[in-house]
Amino acid sequence: MRNNHNPLKLIELLADGQFHSGEELAVLFGITRAGVNKYIKTLREWGISLSSIQGKGYCLDAPLDLLDKQKIDHYYSSTSHIEVIPIIDSTNQYLLNKVTQLSSGDSCVAEFQSKARGRRGRKWFAPFGCNLYFSMYWRLEQGIAAAMGLSLVVGIAVADTLIQLTGQPIKVKWPNDLYLNDKKLAGILIELAGKTGDIAHAVIGIGINLNMANPDATIVNQAWANLGVINRNLLVANLVKSLKQALTEFEQHGLAPFVSHWERLDNFKDRKVKLIIGENIVRGKARGINQHGALLLEQDGVINAYIGGEISLRGDN
Ligand code: ATP
Ligand code: BTN
Repeated sequence: MRNNHNPLKLIELLADGQFHSGEELAVLFGITRAGVNKYIKTLREWGISLSSIQGKGYCLDAPLDLLDKQKIDHYYSSTSHIEVIPIIDSTNQYLLNKVTQLSSGDSCVAEFQSKARGRRGRKWFAPFGCNLYFSMYWRLEQGIAAAMGLSLVVGIAVADTLIQLTGQPIKVKWPNDLYLNDKKLAGILIELAGKTGDIAHAVIGIGINLNMANPDATIVNQAWANLGVINRNLLVANLVKSLKQALTEFEQHGLAPFVSHWERLDNFKDRKVKLIIGENIVRGKARGINQHGALLLEQDGVINAYIGGEISLRGDN
């Protein structure tokens, strides 16, 4: 496995947004100029944009506000463990690998994910430092059945957090996305472990686009949005706090207290939509959700409920 220590140290040095010469960096790390080039190559592989100008050295194209455990703890002193792991394959996988050692609310956050994933085996574009990649563990005492509605509750909690921090008109899209100005801003991926009839372990993954530039078009193949510059450490702290509150309420009272809140945030409420269900397309007007978390679709004056992980909702202009 590659040792990431020095490339990460290099990022900390460059995070000030100033030029640093190859000579200066070589002396600092006690390596050759070729060694410095190797670290720079690693940074580029992680999706960091750098300029390299002869005679001046290297400079990040945009300064970075790095994730910092102490700052997160300062904003929210939680009983839950919040781990900052700069480089990881997937924050969801990291928590899934150790569910039995976790307590509800334990979380982790990364700067870069090499194997970030979305729903149904899709990839998630996760370059270093410019977005938020976050996962939280939650124990479902009532088993897998209690997971119905979970992504909707998480969507509400994330939207509320982002609205409170930025004042922007963030919306939710059934069942697992956040939208800004009709474009995808964030995605939620809930993965479950556990046997039917037993307690279940949920890992709730959240990816929020903040300052992403030129994403790989083979991965990000629909209209997408950035939230903009934000204090990411404060965002993590507020997210943990608001998710824990919402999930505790959901645990005690189910989805019912969230239904009207969802409708206020619903990007497609009363708009024409299409549901893509495998090979089929179903058209109608979105009429919110019911108490089980199913999407309500009005077709020829009749309201039908749709539920299931295979359904993708899109606007139908
Ligand atoms: P659904 O409506 O079924 O959730 P979806 O197209 O949003 O469909 P997801 O698996 O939920 O599919 O999310 C992956 C999609 O999200 C990608 O295909 C891409 O178009 C979009 N997207 C937006 N931002 C990103 C990002 N940072 N990385 C990857 N995909 C992104
Ligand atoms: C989606 O819209 O498909 C959900 C995307 C979820 C992405 C996040 S980023 C943090 C966590 N780790 C992952 O590998 N995926 C989720």
